[in-house]
Amino acid sequence: MMNDQLKAVMIAMIKHDAHSPKRIQHFMKVHEIASLIGQMEGLDDETQFILETAAIVHDIGIKIADEKYGAHPGPKQEQEGMVLVKPLLEEVGGYTPAQIERITYLVGHHHTYTNVTGIDYRILLEADLLVNLYESEVRYKKILKAENKIFQTPSGIWLLEQMFNYD
Ligand SMILES: [Fe+2]
Repeated sequence: MMNDQLKAVMIAMIKHDAHSPKRIQHFMKVHEIASLIGQMEGLDDETQFILETAAIVHDIGIKIADEKYGAHPGPKQEQEGMVLVKPLLEEVGGYTPAQIERITYLVGHHHTYTNVTGIDYRILLEADLLVNLYESEVRYKKILKAENKIFQTPSGIWLLEQMFNYD
């Protein structure tokens, strides 16, 4: 069950992505899976909260990147997204500057698979990839193969094995 603050972030993001059921259902799924992995991995409450917020807002830059460039390659939507996180979280309220800074960092790096610092970052990558492997299988199967060990948490590896049948 989400607390009121996470629920407010979810509602703000649904407004942000209004009339794009694909984007809305994407971040809802990434949030659910990230939340589950975080709980299975026994994160402390603060890290779980950062992770869940980041999972809800992680693709906040896609809409603007699409409007500006007609597409949303990883780096562009990371850049565009970083700018939008702070105003949205400040409007929701209750976030400390340090929390906003970390969530902004995660949004800005969620397509960057190297130098992954922190379990929140790792789980966000895993949850997003689990959803992307279903939604855009060909593209993300290539990424999964090319990148060295995106999946590292036991729960993320387990979910990958349960959902897909890759060798
Ligand atoms: Fe995503």
